[in-house]
Amino acid sequence: MSLSSIINNIPKAELHLHIEGSLTPELMWRLAKKHSVTLPYASVKEIEAAYNFEDLQSFLDLYYAGAGVLRDEEDFFTLMWEYLSRCHKENIVHTEIMFDPQTHTERDIGFDVFMPGFLRAMDKAKQEYGISSYLIMSFLRHLPESAAFETLSEAEPYYKHITAVGLDSSELGHPPSKFERVFKKAKSLGFKIVAHAGEEGPASYIWEAIELLDVDRIDHGVRCQEDKALMALLRERQIPLTVCPLSNLKLCVIDDMKQHNIVELLNEGLLVTVNSDDPTYFGGFLNDNFVALQESLDIDEDTIRTLAANSFKSSFLPEDVKRSFV
Ligand code: HPA
Ligand code: ZN
Repeated sequence: MSLSSIINNIPKAELHLHIEGSLTPELMWRLAKKHSVTLPYASVKEIEAAYNFEDLQSFLDLYYAGAGVLRDEEDFFTLMWEYLSRCHKENIVHTEIMFDPQTHTERDIGFDVFMPGFLRAMDKAKQEYGISSYLIMSFLRHLPESAAFETLSEAEPYYKHITAVGLDSSELGHPPSKFERVFKKAKSLGFKIVAHAGEEGPASYIWEAIELLDVDRIDHGVRCQEDKALMALLRERQIPLTVCPLSNLKLCVIDDMKQHNIVELLNEGLLVTVNSDDPTYFGGFLNDNFVALQESLDIDEDTIRTLAANSFKSSFLPEDVKRSFV
C-alpha cells in the first residue's frame, strides 16, 4: 500500500482543531448572504485569495471577522456537521474540538445558540458515522482573565458536555501566568486542561503552562527545543504536543516544511501528534497535514502508524477505548 493510502485509511484522532477555523469560504459566503452580512470580498475565490498570512495575528484578524457570519443555531450545526462529515471521509474516528465562546458572546450570541447547534451535529455524527467527539472550551488570551471567569460561569448549564478548557488567540504578550487563577478554578471543576504555548511564544510559556496551569497537553509547543530541561520534562512526563504542520507553515513559524521539527521531536522521545488547527485557513485538513509531512521529511509507514497511535494515546478517551486503538 502507498503511504498516502495508509494515511487515508488508518483510523486517527484529531486533538487540535478550532471549529471556527473549519469554516469553508463557501459556507462563509452562503451565511453572509443568508444574514445580509457584507463581506470585504466579492466572491468565494476572493476569500480564498485573502488567506496569506505573515504571522499569527494577521490570521486571527481574518479568522474573527470570518466567524461574524455565524449567527443562529442552524449555522453552528452546519459548521460542526461539515467538519464531522469531513472527519468521516478522512477516517478520523475521534475528535476533540475547540470552540471560542467569546468570539460569539462578544457579538451577543450566547451559549444557548451555539451549544445546541454543536451538540446536535455531534450526536448525529455519533449515530450516523460512529464518530466520538469531545468539546474543549478555549479562552481568548488577548482578553482579560476576568472575561475568562465570566465565560466559565456562563458555560455552567453545559459543563457536562465540555471535556476540557483551553487557551488560544494572540500568544506574544499574553503568557499563561495571566490565566493562572481561572485555570485553577476550571481544574477544580473537573475539566481537563490544554493551552496553546510555544507556537510563536518562547519556551518559557510552555513551562508556565505546565507549572502554573497544570496542563494535560500542550497545543503546538514546537519551540520546546530551545530549552533542554524542558525537552527532558516533556519526555519524562510524556506530556503530549498537538503539532499542526500546515499551520506552522502558513503562519511563518517555519519557512519550509523541510524545516519542520516534528520528526526530531519524535526521535527525542516526545509524545507528538499531527493536527490541522484551522484547516480551511491553512490549506488542508488532517490527512493533508500528514501528506505535507511525508512529502518533505523522512517519514515511513512506521512513523505514520506511531503518529496515529499517539493521537489516541494523547486523547481524553477512557483508557480501555484508547487501548483498542494503539
Ligand atoms: N493559535 C492561537 N490561537 C488560535 C489558533 C492558533 O493556531 N487558531 C485559532 N485560534
Ligand atoms: Zn490552535
